[in-house]
Amino acid sequence: MSTKKLLILPGDGIGPEVMREVARVAAWLGRRRGITFDISEDLVGGTSLAEYGVPIREEVIQKAREADAVLFGSVGDPKWAHVGFDKRPEIAILKLRQELGLFANLRPAKVFDALVDASTLKPDVVKGLDIMIVRETVGGIYFGEPRGIETLPDGQRRGINTEVYTTHEIERVARVAFDLARKRQNSVCSVEKCNVMESGLLWKEVVTDLHAREYADVTLSHMLADNCAMQLVRNPRQFDVIVTGNLFGDLLSDLASMLTGSLGMLPSATLGAVHSDGRRPALYEPIHGSAPDIAGRGIANPIAQILSFAMLLRYSFGMQAESDMIENAVAAMLGTGLRTADIMSEGMARVGTDVMGDAIVRELDKLQG
Ligand code: IPM
Ligand code: MG
Repeated sequence: MSTKKLLILPGDGIGPEVMREVARVAAWLGRRRGITFDISEDLVGGTSLAEYGVPIREEVIQKAREADAVLFGSVGDPKWAHVGFDKRPEIAILKLRQELGLFANLRPAKVFDALVDASTLKPDVVKGLDIMIVRETVGGIYFGEPRGIETLPDGQRRGINTEVYTTHEIERVARVAFDLARKRQNSVCSVEKCNVMESGLLWKEVVTDLHAREYADVTLSHMLADNCAMQLVRNPRQFDVIVTGNLFGDLLSDLASMLTGSLGMLPSATLGAVHSDGRRPALYEPIHGSAPDIAGRGIANPIAQILSFAMLLRYSFGMQAESDMIENAVAAMLGTGLRTADIMSEGMARVGTDVMGDAIVRELDKLQG
């Protein structure tokens, strides 16, 4: 029995479809391992806009604060493209990150052996790939002031966003990256554009100083963001942990995820600072978005959402064994040749969301014995 509080926010598009498969995995944990959670569910994004007129209610943010962990689906719906920025579905995730202080987004890109052929890169470039992008998520150009769209005296309009980072913001996310590296291959690559941006110059200085002060045992390198994008495609296995700001991290993590064959495969964790009572706010979400183009057709890949749940069990609930089991069940299911459309390759069997969910639960049964 566990009394862990879990808040589930399926969101828009394929979010609710893939979250249904997580519910089945959670039900399996109850049935076969006697583990239950105190689960509540709520609306965010376009579905919340439709029901309540806002992308996320204060009440939901409060629930998220009180939860031991949040499992998030995805938000975004072209139906709301016309509304102002403060009302976009995407505001739901941005607000959660900001209000809960979720500053470190861990985005792993790991290639499953069974899927080396699903990558658009050659198998020998991506085989065994295992990198972790640590993306800062509450600062940078996403939140910097000034921002807005103004009309100039001559009638032209001007859009403004500001990239800003402080020493503290850089240090705390770099610490997460160095700590993770120590448990992995012990190497961090810090990414910015110090050749054109003062914020990048400061980023590099702060990471360098912190490294010298507290993490000299970890190998540190620096790379310009554009070069990093190129190196990720040329030779991705040179990286272990990459640490970078909000915007570059958004781009590079999408790029890195595609090395694994599909956006539909990758989970992520976003962590805040550890509170004085030992609790650490955390939100888990797939890297993929709401994919409105395939929503409602039952063909979405549920793996990223299920692996996000596995990450949650590992990092927030300390349930290593269950987390391992879920990851192993996903790998075993892939070994049997089932594929959703996004990871389909020759000779494999193409299936929909629920058949894949079923197969993962069956593999869990086998592992449980
Ligand atoms: C992501 C998404 C979000 C982001 C959007 C939905 C606001 O692309 O989590 O990567 O840009 O951070
Ligand atoms: Mg993104």
